[in-house]
This record gives sequence, C-alpha cells and structure tokens, in this order.
Amino acid sequence: MKFFIDTANLKEIQEAHDMGVLDGVTTNPSLMAKEGIFGHDNVMAHYKQICEIVDGDISAEVIATDYENIIREGEALAELHPNIVVKVPMIREGVKAIKYFSDRGIKTNCTLVFTAGQALLAAKAGATYVSPFVGRLDDIATDGMALIEQIVTIYGNYGYQTQVLAASVRHVMHLLQCAEVGADVVTCPLSVITGLLKHPLTDSGLEKFLSDHAKGNQ
Ligand code: E4P
Repeated sequence: MKFFIDTANLKEIQEAHDMGVLDGVTTNPSLMAKEGIFGHDNVMAHYKQICEIVDGDISAEVIATDYENIIREGEALAELHPNIVVKVPMIREGVKAIKYFSDRGIKTNCTLVFTAGQALLAAKAGATYVSPFVGRLDDIATDGMALIEQIVTIYGNYGYQTQVLAASVRHVMHLLQCAEVGADVVTCPLSVITGLLKHPLTDSGLEKFLSDHAKGNQ
C-alpha cells in the first residue's frame, strides 16, 4: 500500500519523507491556499519544491473547468516535472481531459469522486488514480469506506489499471480499513501516518527495557 501525504506544507512533507515511508504527495487548491501560496508563478514554484523533496507522484490540481483550459493547465503542470500527476475534477469536461492526457502518457488523478459510477467513468477514461473522498462521505452520514470497497471490487472484476487512492482520510482507523479492503494508496495528514506509531505498551515496554539496561550498566 502506498502512503501519500495530503498537504502543501513543505515542513510536513519533509518530515514524512524523512521517516522513509512516503510514496507521494497530494495537494488541492484549499491546501495551497492554507499555506498562503497564491499566483501562478508561486504555485508552480511550490510544486517544484515538493518534487525536489519527494521522488514519487505529486498531484497538482487544475483550476479550469472547461476542456480547453484543463488541457492547457494540465500540460503546463505536467511539464514542470516528470513526477507531476494532473489532478482533474470528476466533471464531464474533466473526464474528456483525462482521456486526452491518458492517450498522451500524462498521469492523472480524478478527484472529487463520491460514487462507484464516477469511479467507473474515471477508469474508462484511463485515469492513473481515482480519489474517492472517505471523510467527506462520512461527514454526511454515508459510509465512505463502503465506497472504497465497492470501487476495489469493480476495478478487480475488469482488471482496470486505475489505482484507488483513498482521499479525505481523517484518522488511523480509516487508513487501516483502507488497507483491509485493498485500496492501492491512502493520502492523509502527517498526524495519521505518525498515529500508526503509537501504542502505550510500546512506550511503557521501551521505558522498562531502558531502565533495566541502565541498572546493570552504570
Ligand atoms: C486529496 O486528494 C483530497 O483533496 C483531500 O484528501 C480532501 O481532504 P478533506 O476532505 O480533508 O479536505
């Protein structure tokens, strides 16, 4: 299972990378705004900086919603670095653009996916990744994890190569359930990745080992 970090914060990206377990990064316009990254040149420079930290797939989202401009923006993003994945929203023009990019070997991440039907369209258009939003479905009292399972089953039935990238992952249980149902990738905040480290018996066990060692080695 691949771990992507869901942030545009360079310090957090570096920290996750330094743990040695990071496979990629996802960003979106809200995450870029949260870091105060505005203006075309600053946005492009920021994506380049992320690519310099992580040697893995880096999702950069288009802002346009019409076909011609999605293509224009996506091609400019893809030219920035070979690891850039063009993130395209699940809308009619987006599906068309994903087909265009996939025919030309440009990697894509189809975002804002909330149904299995949308995921099927993304796969048929040739998306590299599909991003179903687990947490946002849970927020409206709908089972986000059931959607991940459904998409994994459907893709498996037909051998689609599109990778299921579970997005909007909010806590450790989400991540573990994604692993159980066979999501290819999970993208989450740094706190979810570091949350995997934690167990009180690990902490108390280590404390005891170190104090026992210290007794005989003074
Ligand atoms: C990532 O690709 C998505 O944009 C992100 O996971 C959405 O997460 P949120 O629902 O916490 O904003």
